[in-house]
Amino acid sequence: MTTTTTAPTATTVLDASGVTMRFGGLTAVRDVNLTVNTGEIVGLIGPNGAGKTTFFNCLTGLYVPTEGKVAYKGTVLPPKPHLVTQAGIARTFQNIRLFANMTVLENVLVGRHTRTKEGLWSALLRLPGFKKAEEESRARAMELLEFTGLAAKADHLARNLPYGEQRKLEIARALASEPGLLLLDEPTAGMNPQETRAAEELIFAIRDQGIAVLVIEHDIRFIMNLCDRVAVLVQGEKIVEGPAEVVQADERVIAAYLGTPFEGEPGTAEAAEVEAAEADAQSTTEGDDK
Ligand SMILES: Nc1ncnc2c1ncn2[C@@H]1O[C@H](COP(=O)(O)OP(=O)(O)O)[C@@H](O)[C@H]1O
Ligand SMILES: [Mg+2]
Repeated sequence: MTTTTTAPTATTVLDASGVTMRFGGLTAVRDVNLTVNTGEIVGLIGPNGAGKTTFFNCLTGLYVPTEGKVAYKGTVLPPKPHLVTQAGIARTFQNIRLFANMTVLENVLVGRHTRTKEGLWSALLRLPGFKKAEEESRARAMELLEFTGLAAKADHLARNLPYGEQRKLEIARALASEPGLLLLDEPTAGMNPQETRAAEELIFAIRDQGIAVLVIEHDIRFIMNLCDRVAVLVQGEKIVEGPAEVVQADERVIAAYLGTPFEGEPGTAEAAEVEAAEADAQSTTEGDDK
């Protein structure tokens, strides 16, 4: 099968090569190569169960890929989530993972811990260095809440935010680790059209701050508007990759994924998705995303 691959360059932020993930007899991701360059927004699409989230889990060290390697800015990453975050990759989850009983601000502060040098002793003893670091962290967290439009709700409990704002908060928290690459797993699932447009603006703004973005989405119109490049995953394999217009017109993609026209009004599938997402939002916990 022919697939186009963008060769890694000096400006390559992410270089995943030959990534394969097997669960027993099931190959969820098969020999996937993908690069993301500085300044790019890259989309990853594909039907349910195609292996998109599994691929993200391989990139972020949540899963140790059966084969293949993942490099960030030229350095191969060890498959350990905290080391991946420290290196500069941040993510959000398909099933929102917030600390439901912490405030909005506190959730963002949690995201900053990989970037603060002050350690546990300094915190316990309340050394001057700690106080200064804490003030800086708060200031930065507030800046991120301004950026994502959540500043007015800094003191609200995360669980009291409407669904769309919980998604934004996840993004703010991911940004708090000061990443060079942001991975978004279905950031607009469950959003209404206005929220989706706002999310699009937010992602453009993130890109404009010099953060490369890799985004998984079901909403094809959203992906085609947003992305410089799109890769299509079907049954664990990348079948096509290219500029949005090219991918959109590719017969294999139409056959495998776009089977039904997507210009139409929201269908039952979308309505079901929104319902599922709302159910998710209600049970927002610190739980697992597997
Ligand atoms: N931890 C796991 N153990 C076993 N199978 C898994 C696990 N995670 C994902 N899978 C399987 O891998 C396939 C791809 O799933 P997933 O990556 O969630 O797809 P997508 O995000 O594209 O909808 C599915 O068949 C799913 O059941
Ligand atoms: Mg998924």
